[in-house]
Amino acid sequence: MARAAAPLLPFFFLLLSSTSPAANGQKNRLGLTPQMGWNSWNHFGCKIDEATIQKIADAMVDTGLAKLGYEYINLDDCWAAYNRDSQGNLVANASTFPSGMRALADYMHKKGLKLGVYGDAGLRTCSKLMPGSLGYEDQDARTFAAWGIDYLKYDNCNNQNISPLTRYNRMSEALMNSGRDIFFSLCEWGVDEPATWAGSMANSWRTTEDIKNTWESMTDNIDKSNKWAPYAGPGGWNDPDMLEVGNGGMTTEEYRSHFSIWALVKAPLVLGCDISSMTPETKEILSNQKVIAVNQDKLGVQGLKVQQDEDLEVWAGRLSGDRVALVLWNSGPTEASITASWSNIGLSPSAVVDAHDLWTDEVTSSVQGNLKKTVASHACKMYVLTPK
Ligand code: GLA
Repeated sequence: MARAAAPLLPFFFLLLSSTSPAANGQKNRLGLTPQMGWNSWNHFGCKIDEATIQKIADAMVDTGLAKLGYEYINLDDCWAAYNRDSQGNLVANASTFPSGMRALADYMHKKGLKLGVYGDAGLRTCSKLMPGSLGYEDQDARTFAAWGIDYLKYDNCNNQNISPLTRYNRMSEALMNSGRDIFFSLCEWGVDEPATWAGSMANSWRTTEDIKNTWESMTDNIDKSNKWAPYAGPGGWNDPDMLEVGNGGMTTEEYRSHFSIWALVKAPLVLGCDISSMTPETKEILSNQKVIAVNQDKLGVQGLKVQQDEDLEVWAGRLSGDRVALVLWNSGPTEASITASWSNIGLSPSAVVDAHDLWTDEVTSSVQGNLKKTVASHACKMYVLTPK
């Protein structure tokens, strides 16, 4: 079945974003490139505890992933006690995190990692198992800073129908006043088009509903995020949700497509599998330094879907050094040939480039006008094109 036709952004956006990346971001100067790390939700849901999180942190370092840039270890929902303490402070769940959050942050920092927590711009979080921060923004931001927390994912459940601009801005200011640099990851599910207003408040904002561990959900989320590309840039990123690579619901080629396209569109690379027991295939995907380098390119231009012929798609984005990142993506049921034309990907028709395949390391030398390749079903090919 053909993928739903997502809006193709006109080519001039590619040029526009190549010359003037949106000036975005919290005034904290974090997130100059998309955040990289791990989050507990996609694999563990509410079943998290101190030992599990420490094991993940150990694996992040021992597998070499930390060296590649994955630095945040983020707790999602269910880390805190059901109620605040008698002074109104958030406290860790004593049965699952008996040593508390300060100790967990110390554990991360000793390993060269960073610790993130999860909160909610409402009365209770989405699980309803812990309090939200609505009305407690300053107090909670001070608590996070005192614990040494480096990242806050801030959700949208039980929000009393108060405008998201009000609720998220309060926490944004509270974090800025907390005395600590805390990455602010806004999770409003794209409901009120946060790309259009979150740039001054947050370092990233969710553009979609929750990802599921399926091809349909993954492709749907990335299509929905496409139209917000012009709003992304150093300091503030569109977030089509965390990675499912390694969680078992898609094939290896589908996961390679998932990782490639997330990298190209400058999505946060927040891993969601159990990295302490990942397969060699999963590790190979998550460790591809050349693909990561596209995501972390300092120009910070979100790649776009620039060509679509039914199931055959071309995505591209400018990189520093006049290079272009390119993904040829086959969403169809059979192998097919895909041609990317220079006129669609921001290159002049006369440009001659070397095309470096980031997954096979093959180089196709001196290509002019277009690049044509055969791509297997549900697979992609990813290139960096370097002008001669
Ligand atoms: C919402 C968020 C998810 C996750 C869960 C936790 O659904 O969008 O990413 O944080 O809540 O309950």
